[in-house]
Amino acid sequence: MWNRCLLRRHRIVAGWFGALLCIVCLHLYFTFNSVEKSRTSGQLRKLKLKNAEKYHESESQRGNVESQKIENTDQDQDFENKDSYNKPGLQKNVDPAQHSSSLQQNKNAFNRPTDRREEELYTPPSNESPKKRLPQAILIGTGKCGTRALLEYLGMHPYVVHAAKEVHFFDRDENFNLGLKWYKTQMPPSYSNQMTIEKSPAYVEHERSAPEIFKMNKTVRLLWVVKDPVIRLMSAVALQNSATPRHFYLERVNGSLSIKRWNNAVNRGKYVVHLRKWLKFFPLSQIHILDGGALKFEPVTQIQMVETFLGLPPLLGPHNFYYNVTKGFYCLVPFSAKSPSCLGKSKGRKHPELNDTVKTLLYDYYRPYNEEFFKVLGRRFDWEPKDYT
Ligand SMILES: *[C@@H]1O[C@H](CO)[C@@H](O)[C@H](O)[C@H]1NC(C)=O
Ligand SMILES: *[C@@H]1O[C@H](CO)[C@@H](O)[C@H](O)[C@H]1NC(C)=O
Ligand SMILES: *[C@@H]1O[C@H](CO)[C@@H](O)[C@H](O)[C@H]1NC(C)=O
Ligand SMILES: *[C@@H]1O[C@H](CO)[C@@H](O)[C@H](O)[C@H]1NC(C)=O
Repeated sequence: MWNRCLLRRHRIVAGWFGALLCIVCLHLYFTFNSVEKSRTSGQLRKLKLKNAEKYHESESQRGNVESQKIENTDQDQDFENKDSYNKPGLQKNVDPAQHSSSLQQNKNAFNRPTDRREEELYTPPSNESPKKRLPQAILIGTGKCGTRALLEYLGMHPYVVHAAKEVHFFDRDENFNLGLKWYKTQMPPSYSNQMTIEKSPAYVEHERSAPEIFKMNKTVRLLWVVKDPVIRLMSAVALQNSATPRHFYLERVNGSLSIKRWNNAVNRGKYVVHLRKWLKFFPLSQIHILDGGALKFEPVTQIQMVETFLGLPPLLGPHNFYYNVTKGFYCLVPFSAKSPSCLGKSKGRKHPELNDTVKTLLYDYYRPYNEEFFKVLGRRFDWEPKDYT
C-alpha cells in the first residue's frame, strides 16, 4: 500500500518534470529559429551592401584609366549626360496612364514614398545557406546604351543578385579558358529562390557568346539594351575626354567624307548584324530588347517590363525612382534606403556637336541596318536625326 502510493507520487513528479522539460525545449527551439532567420536576412543585406561597395570601388578605380581609352564598354556613365535624351521626340511614346503621378510628386523634394523594407519583401528559404550559382539571366550589351543603369535598377529587386563587376567570361580568352567553374566563382552568393544576373556588354558582339551561352543553359534569359546608334557612337566619341572630339569614325575617301567601314565602334551600332548571330541559337522571345533612351526617360515602365520578362515578383515601381531636377535624370531609391543614389560620379559629358554633313552621313549610314533590325523585331524605335541634340 505504502509502496504503491510512493510509486504513484514518483510518477506524478516525473510527469511534471517531463512537461517542464518540453516547455523549455520548445522555447529554446523557437528562440534559436528566429535568431537564425534574422541572421540569414542580415547576411543577405550585408552581401548586397558588399556588392554595392565593390561596384563603387571599381567605378572610382576606373576613373583613372578612362581618359586613355577610346571605348571601354565597362562604362555607362553617358547615362548621366543631360543632353542625350531630353528631347520631345521620345516623349510622345510615353503612356500617360503608366507615367504615374507619384513620379511627378517625386520631382521636387525627396519623400520616401514607401517604408517597405527589403527584409519584409524577401524571405530566404529556411535551412539554406547562400551559395554561388551560374547566372539565370545575362545582360549581353550594348556598351554605352545604359547597361549599367539597367543592372543597378534590377539590383534593387530583393530577388535579384548581380555580379558587381563585368565578368567578361565569354568575350575574353583568358577568362573563358578558366571554364564555367571560374565563371561561377565570379557570381555573388544567392539563395535558391533568387535570380543571379551578370552583365558584360561585349558579349553581344563576340562570336563565341551565343553558342557558348546556349551550351551553358539553353533557357537562360537574355537582356539587351540598344540605343540610337548615332547617339551611342557619340557617347563613345565623348568618352575620349579630349578638349576637341576626335571623330575617329570618319575618313576621307577620294576627297569626300565617309564613315569608316571596319571600325569596331561603328560596327557596334549595327544591331541587326549582331542579333542574327543570337537568333541562330535563341528564339527572339528569349531576348528582351529595350531602348536605352526609353530606359532613361521612363524607367518605371521599362523596369516593370523587364521584371515580367524575368518572371520576378512585381515589386519595383515609382517608389524606386527619384527624378532629380538638378541632375536631369532619375536616381535610384532602393528599398530600405534613406536617400536616393545616383549613377556615375563624373559630370555628364556633352555629346559632340555634329554639323549637318556628318549628321546626315551617320544617320544615312545606319538607317538600312536600323530598318532591318526593326523588321526582325517587329517593332520600331524612334531613332531619327531630329532627335540628336
Ligand atoms: C537556366 O535558366 C533558366 C531561366 O532563367 C533557369 O530557370 C534555370 O534554373 C537555369 N538552369 C541552370 C542549370 O542554371
Ligand atoms: C577613288 O577614285 C578613283 C579614281 O577616280 C577610283 O578608281 C576609286 O575607285 C575611288 N575610290 C573609292 C573608294 O571610291
Ligand atoms: C540632386 O542632385 C543635386 C546635384 O547633383 C544634389 O546636390 C542633390 O543632393 C540631389 N538630390 C537628392 C535628393 O539626391
Ligand atoms: C563637319 O565636321 C567634320 C568633322 O569635324 C569636318 O571634317 C567637316 O569639314 C565639317 N563640315 C562642314 C561643312 O562644316
